[in-house]
Amino acid sequence: MAKDPGTKTFGIWAGEKTADLPKQADAGVYFIGRIRTPWHERKDCPKNARESDAVCTVEVDPRWADGLKDVESCSHLVLLYWMDKAPRTLVLQVPGHYGVQRGTFALRSPARPNPVAMSVVQLLKVDGAVLSVVGLDCLDGTPLIDIKPYFASTDSVPDATVGWHARKS
Ligand SMILES: C[S@@+](CC[C@H](N)C(=O)[O-])C[C@H]1O[C@@H](n2cnc3c(N)ncnc32)[C@H](O)[C@@H]1O
Repeated sequence: MAKDPGTKTFGIWAGEKTADLPKQADAGVYFIGRIRTPWHERKDCPKNARESDAVCTVEVDPRWADGLKDVESCSHLVLLYWMDKAPRTLVLQVPGHYGVQRGTFALRSPARPNPVAMSVVQLLKVDGAVLSVVGLDCLDGTPLIDIKPYFASTDSVPDATVGWHARKS
């Protein structure tokens, strides 16, 4: 089957490999909110968080609202979210936009055993339990699993490299 990165669904393509998931999960997660974005289909979604300057909203479950105390003082946040539409068994993948086989853990693909995604977002506004941010790349309604302050002093590694990406093959 030819790969069409624009389709809504994920498939297993030539060059890709899956592994069986363990019979039982080792832990559970609590979704703490939902992310609202302009994108309803994968083909419309930015491929990465820097590709779009769309303002998105993060709706935090009111039960966790007190946890947002002091968040408004942060210019940037790390958001962790759950790619709920992604397959979880792929160990080797051929991303459509690269066309080369790579290991799941060498990729930022949403398809992984625990489909956790992360982005560093710019915080524009906090209104009660709703945050307005720039720098997301997920579908509307994507579950939120955590919010952390971004510390440029410790989180930024300006000279970090990804060898395969620099080579682009
Ligand atoms: C390449 S991932 C990067 C995610 C995150 N910035 C990261 O680095 O972990 C972004 C892509 O995931 C896909 N995606 C977005 N929301 C999704 C969801 N809820 N479930 C599955 N796939 C999703 C879209 O194709 C989007 O372009």
